[in-house]
Amino acid sequence: MMLSRRNFILMAGTTAVIVAAGRAVIDLDKMPSTAIAAWSKVESTDSDIRKRVLSYAMLAPNPHNMQPWIVDLRQPRQIDLYCDRTRLLPETDPFSRQILIGHGAFLELLDLAASAAGHRTEITYFPKGEFGDRIDGRPVASIRLISDADREPDPLFQQILQRRSAKVPFDTTRPLRVEHGQGLTTAYTDPDCKLTVATDQPRVLGLQGVVQSGMEIELRTPRTYQESVNVMRIGAQEVNQHRNGIDLTGAPIGWGRLLGMVNREKLADPTSEAFQSGVTMYRDMAEATPAFAWMTTSNNTRSTQLAVGRAYARLNLKATALGVATHPMSQVLQEYAEMQSLQQGVLAMLGIPKGHTMQMLMRLGYVEQPDPSPRRDLQDLLLT
Ligand SMILES: Cc1cc2nc3c(=O)[nH]c(=O)nc-3n(C[C@H](O)[C@H](O)[C@H](O)COP(=O)(O)O)c2cc1C
Repeated sequence: MMLSRRNFILMAGTTAVIVAAGRAVIDLDKMPSTAIAAWSKVESTDSDIRKRVLSYAMLAPNPHNMQPWIVDLRQPRQIDLYCDRTRLLPETDPFSRQILIGHGAFLELLDLAASAAGHRTEITYFPKGEFGDRIDGRPVASIRLISDADREPDPLFQQILQRRSAKVPFDTTRPLRVEHGQGLTTAYTDPDCKLTVATDQPRVLGLQGVVQSGMEIELRTPRTYQESVNVMRIGAQEVNQHRNGIDLTGAPIGWGRLLGMVNREKLADPTSEAFQSGVTMYRDMAEATPAFAWMTTSNNTRSTQLAVGRAYARLNLKATALGVATHPMSQVLQEYAEMQSLQQGVLAMLGIPKGHTMQMLMRLGYVEQPDPSPRRDLQDLLLT
């Protein structure tokens, strides 16, 4: 049958609508490109070197992606880093230990970016004194950038835009290669921050159970779980609006949202399907883990926490270079009362000496690189 011109136009129009609708279904609650623009639009052309290095520093891993950084640029040639105390996680991180690890990671990425720009850094931790049990308004660090023709670019700099926390199940058919485990131990040199990589079945299976129990405790403790629910960004619009927190994107979230099955109330309700599928997702990730690594320190001062963050950032970047995915799973390390008995159990299981602190625990394995997580605009962090 010959198509008339009118019918042809009608048919073409209908096809276009169907294709567009199909695209919309696939793209439902897709990660908005503006929310992750920081990963490709690094301000490497800014005439102020401080802004150039900061545009990399802000890609640092940090708990719940709160990005709790305030950067004061009002002193010429100096960067003063403060903690944004409106972005803390007091229930799950009561002493802000993890928040400070995130600051350490920020400093390490800043230093790597400085190396790539032919500068060395002079970083003074806590120039007005270390925090006590609570973070206060004093600076975390003061940084000076000094032009230095002798400073070689650190090769880990090249990994910053590729780095991720891979919050997905890993390939269960691929054990961690021995040379990759060994390669990770060369990521940093800080002798006070001990790294252990475990690939043996007893410890891997034990830790798979431990991280699930840790998550279970967090989920069943209303105030700690609610803290996470409060910072969930549900769907593309919320993710783009906040560009921080726990980003929930993708078509299943979109459909769940449209059908009224995924929203803040449902996610907070342990009897809901949304909650249950979160639990299942976590279990699947824990079980799809061929190796774990952990970092311990003999003391737990605020400066040590920054040093751990710097070491962890290097480890994450080294893993990226080796094609190894990393994913911190920190619940069991947290300091609130309900977690203490499980934590004591894991410290004993791993033979960690009394008085030492397990600062980071992470899954290791292989998986396709996931999408980056959102970042705010650099401008939002700056005091100028
Ligand atoms: C100290 C620390 C603890 C973390 N703990 C967890 C965790 O328990 N579970 C998790 O999924 N991610 C954890 N992360 C990863 C962050 O969620 C992640 O860095 C953040 O969402 C930003 O994503 P990105 O690392 O891919 O840029 C942790 C990161 C840091 C620095």
